[in-house]
Amino acid sequence: MEAPETAEIPGLAPGLTGVPPCDNTYVFDAERMRQLTMFWVGGFKALLIEGDPAAGKTSLIEQWHARLNVPLYKVPCSPTTESFRLIGQLLPTEDGKLAWKDGPVLKACREGTSVLLDEYNTLDPGEATALNMLLEGYSWTIPETGETILPAKTTRFFATQNAVDSKAAVAGRNIQDVANDDRFSYMEVDYLKPELEEALVLRHLLAGKVDKAVAEQISRICVKVANNVRVAFRQDAPGVDKPLSTRVVLRWAKYTVMYQSVMKAQNRSGLHYAIRQAVRMSAAMAGAVNEQITAVAGYDEDMNS
Ligand SMILES: Nc1ncnc2c1ncn2[C@@H]1O[C@H](COP(=O)(O)OP(=O)(O)OP(=O)(O)O)[C@@H](O)[C@H]1O
Ligand SMILES: [Mg+2]
Repeated sequence: MEAPETAEIPGLAPGLTGVPPCDNTYVFDAERMRQLTMFWVGGFKALLIEGDPAAGKTSLIEQWHARLNVPLYKVPCSPTTESFRLIGQLLPTEDGKLAWKDGPVLKACREGTSVLLDEYNTLDPGEATALNMLLEGYSWTIPETGETILPAKTTRFFATQNAVDSKAAVAGRNIQDVANDDRFSYMEVDYLKPELEEALVLRHLLAGKVDKAVAEQISRICVKVANNVRVAFRQDAPGVDKPLSTRVVLRWAKYTVMYQSVMKAQNRSGLHYAIRQAVRMSAAMAGAVNEQITAVAGYDEDMNS
């Protein structure tokens, strides 16, 4: 099967529980959409999505399911998440007996819906291995009840994670064993392209009733600075110890709008001031980012150009 130019993907009827809410400001990138479509219509079962913090991994899978009306069970993973939390366990009932309760993974297998294992590589590799058979669609017998489960054909697993070798050093990430890794298709998610990120910031500001010309200028400057900082980060520029994420850019733009007039009255730059309210940075990074803002905006913290 070749990748088609356009594709219509059948979704489910609206109204099922577990469907994530639609984010109308969400921007779909064509390449990500194509990869996700191929995975989806190709009948593959498990997809691993990697990228820097807040590049847009979780939201991509969420919004995909929101549009298709397919329930998505999101499970945050951590080093102490044990596989029974994902698969299921015997729990006491009101009358003092024990009854089997499906975890999100088993629930999705029964229904043919989706599971998102968020921050997958924080999971203990041994616990991740317990999922191997289900990830591949094999039938599986619940030891506690003897019931055999054959995952429905449309069951899909998504795992998101920050790469272990990502330059944005993220502490506490495991490398899953090869057998587990082997079962996943792979997708890398990078930050949005500048024009898409700018459109996103603009939409948020306009939704907040910001004047269009002001909103356009702020979106352009914030996204440009963020991209310069991301490049500096990848090139190991001194002081730049992390990238500025889309999340941060959005907060920064919104704070800028809020502070701009107050600051201007004091002859100070709202842009320079607001970034420090939007994200914690080391002194060295704050200095480097400040210089970037001055270069892009054309004026410094004290409004001197
Ligand atoms: N394409 C996009 N359209 C709209 N908003 C986006 C997009 N990509 C990212 N965002 C924004 O960035 C935020 C972070 O995205 P998301 O939670 O998907 O990142 P992540 O890669 O899963 O991050 P983490 O590694 O921290 O879990 C979202 O809340 C959303 O506001
Ligand atoms: Mg995430």
